[in-house]
Amino acid sequence: MKYIKHFLIVSVLVIITTLGVSYLLDTLPLLPTQAASQAVTIDSMFSMHFRVISFLFAVIVVFLLYSLVVFRRRGGEEGEGDHFEGHTGLEIFWTIIPLAIVLYFAYIGAQSLDETVRVDPQALEVNVTAFQWSWSFDYPEYGVSSSELYLPKDRQVLLKLTSLDVIHSFWVPEFRVKQDALPGENFVRELRVTPTEIGEYKVRCAELCGGAHAYMNSPVIVVEPAAFETWLTEQQAGTDFGGDLAAQGQKLATDMGCISCHSVDGSVLVGPSWQGIYGTERTLTDGTVVTVDEAYLRNSILDPNSQVAQGFAPSMPAYQGLMSDEEIDALIAYIASLK
Ligand code: CUA
Repeated sequence: MKYIKHFLIVSVLVIITTLGVSYLLDTLPLLPTQAASQAVTIDSMFSMHFRVISFLFAVIVVFLLYSLVVFRRRGGEEGEGDHFEGHTGLEIFWTIIPLAIVLYFAYIGAQSLDETVRVDPQALEVNVTAFQWSWSFDYPEYGVSSSELYLPKDRQVLLKLTSLDVIHSFWVPEFRVKQDALPGENFVRELRVTPTEIGEYKVRCAELCGGAHAYMNSPVIVVEPAAFETWLTEQQAGTDFGGDLAAQGQKLATDMGCISCHSVDGSVLVGPSWQGIYGTERTLTDGTVVTVDEAYLRNSILDPNSQVAQGFAPSMPAYQGLMSDEEIDALIAYIASLK
């Protein structure tokens, strides 16, 4: 009976601490903007976890600090503290309650998973191709391909993810959901997102995939459905270059991700800059000197590691089979146009 007072005080302190920590976790901007309906489901789980975490923190810290202060050894005290030899009631209590909480969380976890993968038959299909080190997005229903992921607001998008080389991972933090992109056409992975907030976001690669992994991000732009239609029309018109090879090459350089490693302004990224290189001489890692001409550039695209420029690592992926001859011609015309 003499412990009832302590127990009551500790209980009140635990409640106050729980509310305080829980308020703090709710108020701090721990999660980015909620830009998809899937984010709402996932965040409600987060906030439930925050409450449980707050309570566990309070139980441990309050009991610890209270005991340290109130039951400390005072001057003149020589004996040992009271001993307890088991307490069946307490043991049953602290087994049953956590078990119930864990089972409850398993249940709402399954429910949330079900909600985030819910299929909308009207979903917009986008094929997402990941490669070292960029992304490309194809809209098969519209014959459009882009280096930016444009999405209409309030319509579910079905992303079909693949990779041309190693394992990458598609992640837009504002959408919360994440999915790996695996190489091989038998391993297409699906991810469903329903954007709810207009804005510009960024898709990041969440799987370590080589030298420029940290720079493997592309814009994700959520717009009103009408603006999305306009963008599609513009893109459809934009694929006709009227025979301007360099202009076509410029779009390819963006779509194929070349410019994430090769600058066009002279700055050195993962690979040499393209500015003014056409027609110049270049020393390779084996000491030979070559002229940067059509043959050299073509070989560097198809089999880059056979002729590596001095001062650079042989890290460029080979584009053999990924680009047509015409596309390579266009890309070379673009590089040649950069003075
Ligand atoms: Cu792709 Cu990291």
